[in-house]
Amino acid sequence: MIYPINQTKVTKSRLSEVDLTNLAFGKTFTDHMLVADYYDGKWQKCEITSYGPTSTSPSIYALHYGQSIFEGMKAVKDANGNAMLFRPDDNWKRLNYSAHRLAMPDVPREIFMDGLTQLLKLDKDWIPQEEGSALYIRPFMYCADELIGIKPTEVFQFKIIMSPVSKYYSQPVKILVADKFVRACAGGTGDVKAAGNYGATQLPMIEAKKLGYDQVLWMDAREFRYLNEIGSMNVFVQIEDKFLTPELDGNILDGVTRRSVIALLKDEGYTVEERKVDIAELVEAHEKGILNDAFGTGTAASLAPIDSFGYKGKTLQVKPMEQRIISNHIKKRLDAIKCGVEADKFGWVMAVL
Ligand code: COI
Repeated sequence: MIYPINQTKVTKSRLSEVDLTNLAFGKTFTDHMLVADYYDGKWQKCEITSYGPTSTSPSIYALHYGQSIFEGMKAVKDANGNAMLFRPDDNWKRLNYSAHRLAMPDVPREIFMDGLTQLLKLDKDWIPQEEGSALYIRPFMYCADELIGIKPTEVFQFKIIMSPVSKYYSQPVKILVADKFVRACAGGTGDVKAAGNYGATQLPMIEAKKLGYDQVLWMDAREFRYLNEIGSMNVFVQIEDKFLTPELDGNILDGVTRRSVIALLKDEGYTVEERKVDIAELVEAHEKGILNDAFGTGTAASLAPIDSFGYKGKTLQVKPMEQRIISNHIKKRLDAIKCGVEADKFGWVMAVL
């Protein structure tokens, strides 16, 4: 099926008003966005238009009941100035995995990829080139039915907006291990990118920040014993020479960066165990002095070192940064593959010419 995308370009770009060397994460948006409408059982109009507020009915279902999902991707430039995407098909597939869980229509690959590549061609000059910067891409879909009442829904909008960003975390993060609130439970929506998963974490995150932490490490909802994921990323720890990360048990997100880091670690011959990770293992490793590394992975965060975990009034301090040779090397390789400096033997990158 062909989905024509109408383009209405802005008459004057806002780019000259933006300092791409000094960006706050997720606060600046490029000139254009993609909008696709779904109703009467099919995708209808697709268009690229200027980024900006759109009028929305106060009764749309997404606002009242949270039927809304999203993705996160990044584009960087290669040495020839081409926009490079990282594993974009994985994001398209995960969007539709989320859509299925929230009873929303699949977004056809043509709309996702053609919309994305056309947008990128238009707004390519917005890709920042400072170290650690990128163009963050936010595809999302929400229910636009005007409806009060919990009933099956039929009207949806899929959009893509883009935001030039610098690093998500500028320093190693301090993590509070959750002991009261939960993010996900068996049978819930923990493994999809549902907007509500994040809305519900605001209060615990604000409380953690008041105590001096950057983020919360969510734990399993039954015993607060097994690591789940961190507010903005998946979690890895290195105990002695082994890397551990929570298994995909339906409660955590199948992160594209998580998957890539596992592949790179294995490519270098390291052992990675995807399994239940008990917080007691971290406590014991810390006591023995073998909690050698810990980091989060995510599109926004990339590979973000963890400084320490706050757990039951104690601080589990991870080894100093200069000793974290392996994760530092993996992060460099990941970045090098993304921008075409290292040959892409995994077939992960897609140049938008
Ligand atoms: C991402 O890493 O792209 C995310 O969506 C996480 C986040 C900023 C909520």
